[in-house]
Amino acid sequence: MTQLETYIAQHEERFLEDLKGWLRIPSISALPEHMPDIQRAAEYAAHQLQQIGFQGVEVIPTQGSPLVYGEWLQAPGKPTVLIYGHYDVQPVDPIDLWDSPPFEPTIRDGNIYCRGACDDKGQTMLVIKALEALMAVNGTLPVNVRVLIEGEEENGGESIEHYVKTYPERLQCDAAFICDTHMPSPDLPALIYGLRGIVYTEIEARGARRDLHSGSYGGVAPNPIHSLAIIISRLKDADGHIHIPGLYDKMRTPTQAEQDFWQHDPLHIGGSLAAEMGVKQLSGESEYPPLQRIWARPTLEVHGIAGGFTGEGAKTVIPAIATAKVSLRLPPELVPDEVFTLLERAVKAVAPADVTVTVRKIHVGDGVLVPPDSAAMQAASAALQEVYGKEPVLIREGGSIPIAALFDEVLHAPVVLMGFGLPDDNLHAPNEKYSLAQFFKGIRTVASFLTRMGQ
Ligand code: BES
Ligand code: MN
Ligand code: MN
Repeated sequence: MTQLETYIAQHEERFLEDLKGWLRIPSISALPEHMPDIQRAAEYAAHQLQQIGFQGVEVIPTQGSPLVYGEWLQAPGKPTVLIYGHYDVQPVDPIDLWDSPPFEPTIRDGNIYCRGACDDKGQTMLVIKALEALMAVNGTLPVNVRVLIEGEEENGGESIEHYVKTYPERLQCDAAFICDTHMPSPDLPALIYGLRGIVYTEIEARGARRDLHSGSYGGVAPNPIHSLAIIISRLKDADGHIHIPGLYDKMRTPTQAEQDFWQHDPLHIGGSLAAEMGVKQLSGESEYPPLQRIWARPTLEVHGIAGGFTGEGAKTVIPAIATAKVSLRLPPELVPDEVFTLLERAVKAVAPADVTVTVRKIHVGDGVLVPPDSAAMQAASAALQEVYGKEPVLIREGGSIPIAALFDEVLHAPVVLMGFGLPDDNLHAPNEKYSLAQFFKGIRTVASFLTRMGQ
């Protein structure tokens, strides 16, 4: 065992306790009542950075959730790595489906279960522990490091965007490192070269000025829930084609190598999706291979519909208003703000005439394609190879990390997307978990990555 491995092994228990303390804070950025928890989770992260010897540690107030910043810049002549993570988490409902309380970290079969266990407290904590281990063993770090942790990634990430655009010089770096993605299986390490963008909206349909008795008015009253259903069904057909005029116009033809990979699916990622989800068949555009559909095609999803009566029993009402949360995932070449305009136009065009419809933009985030051959990517690849004994695969992911595009654009830094999540980690769902083996391997891998960045 190397000295570093020994240090990690000797401190496993405390590393986990430090993670658990963070996980117990219900830092849900989407729900305003959790703002005090957001603040506490930020302070917890700042304290961790102070403990491992970082300097200039700050909890930076913003319009939304505070940012956490810390730096260690004592390696003159060495490159600077900007490390990003997020301490906010998704809401926990439906709470009945959790096997243990969502904010009580619980260890079962080599996994830690808790909201945020993987996304992204577990993955962020492992990076902090890699820094701690390097610092403890060597008394120094192999590179200069800035750490920036945000608290509203799951809610659009506007504050960090503003900060990065306003103070790019404070974040000057040679590479950015983001630990917030997955690998296909525990013995198949991966580096991510592409993420999709997103535009998240709320569509509202209004009918009468107030709720109506469905007997007295049924037959003449507009029903905004029904109208919303019509709108939604007209926006995307049963074959997965999205009917927003202009949406597909700017799509780029993928490279032949990508098309071959998606078609042949040599790692059987697309081939196991149905089993993973527990469905009898895949939905969507059957003329494209599943990998292309989850990584590089636009999608339109309804996340929830609200309106009218959904309690027990019966209530004969025609609601005055109904809303739907609708988002589109976008390949990196599509511009989310432009797509919002197209969506708004399409909604108005297909809406039944008896309701008033508005489309509200909740948040947007750009997708990203990172050059796979930067020095930082090579260091990342060698580190994964060292710890996992296998060359990592280069893949895309369908999820979004809006800050990745911004680092690329504003800081002109190559972005490394290396994460240790697994496909069954239940991100955003009940029983989110993180594999302990992945957590500890992640620490070793990140330490190796930083060491290689310094060579
Ligand atoms: N860590 C995820 C993104 C992700 C998920 C990457 C799965 C790779 C695989 C991130 O926390 C996330 O959930 N992002 C949101 C962004 C949105 C709210 C702007 C997403 O993708 O829905
Ligand atoms: Mn995340
Ligand atoms: Mn997430």
